[in-house]
Amino acid sequence: MNKFGAAERIRKLKSLINDYRYHYHVLDQSTMSEAAADSLKHELSALETKFPELITADSPTQRVAGEPLAKFTQVTHSSRMLSLNDVFNTVEVVAWVDRLRKLRPAAAASLEYFADIKMDGLACALTYQDGRLVSAVTRGNGFVGEDVTLNVRTIENVPLQLRSKPEYEQFCHGRTEIRGEIIMLKADFTALNIVRAAEAKPLFANPRNLAAGTIRQLDPALAAGRPLRFRAYDLLRDNPTDVPTNVYAYAALRSLGINSNAEAKVFTVIDDVLAFASYWDEARHALSFNTDGLVIKLNDRKLYADYGVVGKAPRAAVAYKYAAEEATTIVKDIILSIGRTGTANPVAVFEPVVVAGSTIQHATLHNADEVARKDIRIGDTVIIYKAGDIIPQVLRVLPELRPNNTRAFDMEAELKRQYPELDFERPSGEAAYRMKNVSGPLLLKRALEHFASKAALDIDTLGEKNVGALVDAGLVTDLAGIYALTEAQILEVDRFAQLSAQKLVTGIQITKNPPLSRFIYGLGIRHAGAQTALDLADAFGSLTALGRASLDELQAIDGVGKVVAESIVAWFSDADNLAVLEKFSRLGIQPHHERHEDGPLHGQKFVITGSLETMSREAAADKVRSLGGVFQSTLSKDTTLLVVGANVGAAKLAKASKYGTKQITENELLAFLNANHG
Ligand code: IVH
Repeated sequence: MNKFGAAERIRKLKSLINDYRYHYHVLDQSTMSEAAADSLKHELSALETKFPELITADSPTQRVAGEPLAKFTQVTHSSRMLSLNDVFNTVEVVAWVDRLRKLRPAAAASLEYFADIKMDGLACALTYQDGRLVSAVTRGNGFVGEDVTLNVRTIENVPLQLRSKPEYEQFCHGRTEIRGEIIMLKADFTALNIVRAAEAKPLFANPRNLAAGTIRQLDPALAAGRPLRFRAYDLLRDNPTDVPTNVYAYAALRSLGINSNAEAKVFTVIDDVLAFASYWDEARHALSFNTDGLVIKLNDRKLYADYGVVGKAPRAAVAYKYAAEEATTIVKDIILSIGRTGTANPVAVFEPVVVAGSTIQHATLHNADEVARKDIRIGDTVIIYKAGDIIPQVLRVLPELRPNNTRAFDMEAELKRQYPELDFERPSGEAAYRMKNVSGPLLLKRALEHFASKAALDIDTLGEKNVGALVDAGLVTDLAGIYALTEAQILEVDRFAQLSAQKLVTGIQITKNPPLSRFIYGLGIRHAGAQTALDLADAFGSLTALGRASLDELQAIDGVGKVVAESIVAWFSDADNLAVLEKFSRLGIQPHHERHEDGPLHGQKFVITGSLETMSREAAADKVRSLGGVFQSTLSKDTTLLVVGANVGAAKLAKASKYGTKQITENELLAFLNANHG
């Protein structure tokens, strides 16, 4: 993106994020998930890093959240309520620890880490004077917050008087500040919404918003009717040496009658912190409250303070955020894949983005109606999410970020453009466009014939007639289905007798470990011919890697252009195709790959013209490829060897002479292959 484009994008991002923040922090409404907003902030911050001259003071990257509401009395915090810097993976945690060690080598050997679950609620500072609750203040902008004492006094687990125990007696004298989070438990939230639904009232969006909305309104009676909790994470005294460590703080809090998370733990080895983080990544779903990560801080509070603050966050603490299940990205293209039954399915191709821990490059858009309903256009910024953690979906478009020159997606025009050779129709009452005059069984027959053909899996017992009989009998419903066929099943079909059934099953079963390139070719991915399949196998080495490849990665391969790359991406984003791949692997089909690029014929490009006497073209091609050579279907400038068989027209030879391509006979080819063998 050039500077002009970046300036425009930054302007739109700032406006949308500021709008989101205003709704979130001031109106307690949610216009999109925090994860989606984070994703936009990430993009903004990346653009600002690239073009620092475009940073302005009003950028959301430059300020602390939340202005206090004027309707509350404003209270200045005794010390600033800070935020935390986020880390997203183990590498970033280790980098954080390394930075701490470098800054203070003397402390490096004995760092202790205190880790707690990060609660998704509303930060609040409680002040107790001589053991009595005197004020409760929201974070506000970190310096000044809102006095919400009356509302907080209705929270059952906030003691109005601290419990006095001999060991922690000093906290009941003078000023004690307790910081923590006001939350609503998931079960309480659900119960409230069930009542709302019964009363036909609009449902609350999420526990965090409801907790914040309840505390930041002026009627304590309303607050009293909503089950909120307070969980502390900090204990402050005018004399900081009163609280030497966070372990001590949590023990004191408990004794004083204040809840904090029982899950919090202290560690001496960072690897144990990482194990704790990975444990809670799964286990967090069973917690009674919402969390999006952990807080990791140094246990020693003097050391923590000595490390100081950078910007709005302490150096000696981080928020370890779990993988977001939503993110924003840009639709680079909308391509069409043809499914198993001949239906055309639109697929969005994205700027790659990480969602719930894996990189997403594309998502099915289901059908033209769905694209129209969501009005998804090329160039749009969309929020994507993972449904059931597996298949990515587009949640919605962010129209605020739409470029000026976009057009609505036109399915019929795209079908004409992407599949000029095919005819489509949209049967009435159906959402899908499908190939005209082509039935599902017919397509399956063609696909199976191709899969079994010489250049693919080479299953010689599975010709057109057998394929037809098996499909018509309903014994095979997809490509992988042939590997589940039993002799007994086949014998039910008229065409077969004991011997032929046996032969067919054996013929199929011996192809269970096919060369990856032949398998890819056999899948019948449009535009992926035998040579492309070989190049793909060489470049990616496995089906999984190929399935994850981005358009750019595919196009980086010699001979793979936009059309081929799009076709491959579309194929691997089709749920039907993925289900068939899954079935292949369940039935034990394991394509294997040996790299050919180091073979003795590496760099040599062959074309065969005319017919060969001693072997088929496929066999010759296989041999060439297995030795690292490239087998081309037509003569081009970069062809190195033209094998001239019988009955060759003069024109072909003239072209070869023009290019200066070396010509050899079939015998010379054989000699050449033998000489280079092994
Ligand atoms: S320790 C400098 N512990 O997360 C603040 N904070 O993003 C250190 N939070 O401001 C706070 N659960 O409002 C801490 N177990 C926990 C927390 C927690 C939620 C909030 C808190 C803090 C924000 C930082």
